Amino acid sequence: MSTTRRTTKPMVPADLDHWLADNDQRIHDELFDFLRIPSISARSEHNPDTRRAAKWLNDKLTSIGFTSAVHETPGHPVVLAEWRKAPAGAPTLLIYGHYDVQPAEPLELWTSPAFEPTIRDGKIFARGSVDDKGQLWVHVKALEAHLAVRGTLPCNVIVLAEGEEEVGSEHLAPFIEQHKKRLACDGVVISDSAMFAPGIPSILSSLRGLAYFEINVEGPNSDLHSGMYGGAVVNPGMALARILATFHDAKGKVAIKGFYDGIKPFTAAVRKGMKMLPFKDTTFMRELGVKALGGEPGYTTLEKLWTRPTCEVNGLLSGYTGEGAKTVLPGKSMAKVSCRLVPGQDPKQIEKLMKAHVKKVAPAGVKVTVTHLHGGKPWRAELDGPLFDAAQIALKAAFKRDAVIVGEGGSIPVVGDFERILKAPVLLVGFGLPGENAHAPDEWISVDNLRRGLRAMAVLYEEVAK
Ligand code: BES
Ligand code: ZN
Repeated sequence: MSTTRRTTKPMVPADLDHWLADNDQRIHDELFDFLRIPSISARSEHNPDTRRAAKWLNDKLTSIGFTSAVHETPGHPVVLAEWRKAPAGAPTLLIYGHYDVQPAEPLELWTSPAFEPTIRDGKIFARGSVDDKGQLWVHVKALEAHLAVRGTLPCNVIVLAEGEEEVGSEHLAPFIEQHKKRLACDGVVISDSAMFAPGIPSILSSLRGLAYFEINVEGPNSDLHSGMYGGAVVNPGMALARILATFHDAKGKVAIKGFYDGIKPFTAAVRKGMKMLPFKDTTFMRELGVKALGGEPGYTTLEKLWTRPTCEVNGLLSGYTGEGAKTVLPGKSMAKVSCRLVPGQDPKQIEKLMKAHVKKVAPAGVKVTVTHLHGGKPWRAELDGPLFDAAQIALKAAFKRDAVIVGEGGSIPVVGDFERILKAPVLLVGFGLPGENAHAPDEWISVDNLRRGLRAMAVLYEEVAK
């Protein structure tokens, strides 16, 4: 695999380009309306907002000429919109995105409020700006450009937007299964990822999978005076720390028995491609404000991030965490732990291994339970075929340079389901950037990427139909 593929000099058609330029302000204004809705899927108190976001998107898709409906699921609703008036023989594209967002906490670390979109330094700051409302918006408005200027689309298009991506997409695979005839398509396009660097359009070659756990340790029936009881009663905070410390060996490899079994290594060509990408550990460390990097020995940083599995603590809770000191022996403790998975690993199998491991290392005197919260399979792309070729041309037209092929450490659980159920290739082409603060305070999307992304996707629909 090479990291670049030569193409001729593709252009963004002038009519679409002009329409997008003329409507730039409105495109922004409407996106801001979308971003103002706090559609936080993890929080039930925001269920009305999540629903409002679905309805809002549904109405937008209807207004540009799609037939759209909000479908109930046992969780958050799915928006399904269709436009099927392309000439006979034209392909059908399915565009997937998510309208739900991560919680915005810690709120005090946002420079401007999370749900009051603000532009600074060419970036739109808001929760969901890049993950994924802004990127979904790229497609909605690129579709609108075609319909407004030409009254038609070059191919049939299905837009499928879910509200549970950030909490594991539990109800989406059953929805796809249930509607699989209707969702039949020639390719799936997803913009929910980042470019390798500013100005370098990128196509994803892989995603890691995920197995997410909550570990609860219960000790005495309440918090205790640490002087009166400490030393004799097993401390759930310490017990949890001991358990977590067994997840890795001294070298940094995951020490859960069987964890690496069955992993299908990335090909030498892919690893070589990664080494050719402009990446420096020193720059990476400087950007993150760390003095050293960790992880598994024997791999480059990009290999660690894109091709190797992990086991990480996501959150910890126990005892007194307020101001000053309080002498207390906590009655319980809790950790959120997630494993990122690579091809060959399966979330169900990792759940078994994790539970067996914790059972083995759990100290006596406390009760330890491991709950699997959600999971998703890893994914690797084929990187050939007409959809992939169309993407190369479309990205070049908008960004004026060849796309690079990149891996990704994050997860989009539904990608594997699309391939399995719909038997269609999936193209992941995203417009985020390193440092975009997805899931963190001050999340942003670049205004320039938004503009170029719109043009690239407008060209993509055309190229796919050729
Ligand atoms: N947009 C991300 C996925 C992603 C992250 C793609 C980084 C490329 C780079 C998506 O919204 C996300 O955050 N997914 C979750 C999935 C999980 C909740 C099942 C993730 O990766 O943590
Ligand atoms: Zn996300």
